[in-house]
Amino acid sequence: MIRGVIEGTGSYLPEYRLTNDQLEKLVDTSDEWITARTGIGCRRVAGPGEETSKIAAEAARRAMAMAGVEAEEIATIIVGTITSEMTMPSCACLVQKEIGAINAYAFDISAACTGFIYGLELADKMIKAYPDRKILVIGAENLSARVDWQDRNTCVLFGDGAGAAVIGADDSGRGILATKLFSDGRLGDLLYMNAAPSLNPYIGSPYNKRKSAKTEVFDPARLGSPRDDEGSYIKMAGREVFKNAVLAMEDSIDKVLEEAGLSGPEIDWILPHQANIRILHNLGERLGVPKEKIFINIHKYGNTSAATVPIAFDEANRQGLLKRGDLVLTCAFGGGFTWGAEIIRW
Ligand code: ACO
Repeated sequence: MIRGVIEGTGSYLPEYRLTNDQLEKLVDTSDEWITARTGIGCRRVAGPGEETSKIAAEAARRAMAMAGVEAEEIATIIVGTITSEMTMPSCACLVQKEIGAINAYAFDISAACTGFIYGLELADKMIKAYPDRKILVIGAENLSARVDWQDRNTCVLFGDGAGAAVIGADDSGRGILATKLFSDGRLGDLLYMNAAPSLNPYIGSPYNKRKSAKTEVFDPARLGSPRDDEGSYIKMAGREVFKNAVLAMEDSIDKVLEEAGLSGPEIDWILPHQANIRILHNLGERLGVPKEKIFINIHKYGNTSAATVPIAFDEANRQGLLKRGDLVLTCAFGGGFTWGAEIIRW
């Protein structure tokens, strides 16, 4: 059977590191609280030249280099994002221009943290129909432009980054074995973000405001605080989201394992969405999967929404952790709500 297989991975993390100690000076929080409750120690903040499409394009270039695929060979570009710097063109079209993928068609997926996994499922179906094609699936976010830096409930959680994968065809048993995707719009008001100010200079863009200054010392003003675009921040009922995330991801994992005819202990690696270390440990315990099999980088980058999964893929891949033939399970949960799980034979 022909399946979509990951031929190359890439990622890009903005240079600027924002630590918990710096956040202590901004809101009423502590390194101890953030580390204990979330597992996050640091996050990256995009600066000038690191717009969502730019970091997405850099991750894509790195994935194409690993796959040995030229930009002209890419047939489709799919970007999972909720924080593109423009509403139109799509982030995927901006990436297309940036990398010179002149033969591709390109579009975005808005599925919050599950965007990359939604994209992989689509790519797998496209590859089954057109096995000679190469598809770029990207997850990229600039969440620092969309959090309220005066709200300790959310600002400590999120970061910026991008990850990408080149998908091609394989008929040797490798590739995407099973996927289960879900959404429930009825729960949308537990985690949401109103329309973006984007690059529009007339509605108080946080991006425009922080375009000029890139200082060594963390400067809240650089992140646009106080701002006149309050309605566009991420809003989250954290505790409710936490409960839903654990149950929903666990359920989707059960279902995807069943579809693939596998059990938890057979999985070699879990490369999950990185939202909270407690969610990940909880999942591991419930599935009977030891902690060592769960790839974690949340301490370095925080929650980068659609980018967490492809960044994890790329880091685990480049660290040589993923061996050919390994069974890799990924899962995510995000605003919408959207969630899902996928099993890949690497
Ligand atoms: N520093 C110090 N105290 C804080 C902070 C902070 N940064 N944030 C909240 N608190 C306080 C609260 O005010 C509360 O105080 P109170 O008891 O006096 O009212 C106390 O800590 C406990 O608050 P909770 O919200 O119950 O804390 P919880 O243990 O649930 O952790 C968290 C909060 C980290 C947000 C957690 O609920 C979580 O991770 N939720 C899920 C996030 C997630 O999965 N998001 C999905 C993807 S995101 C997307 O799609 C874009």
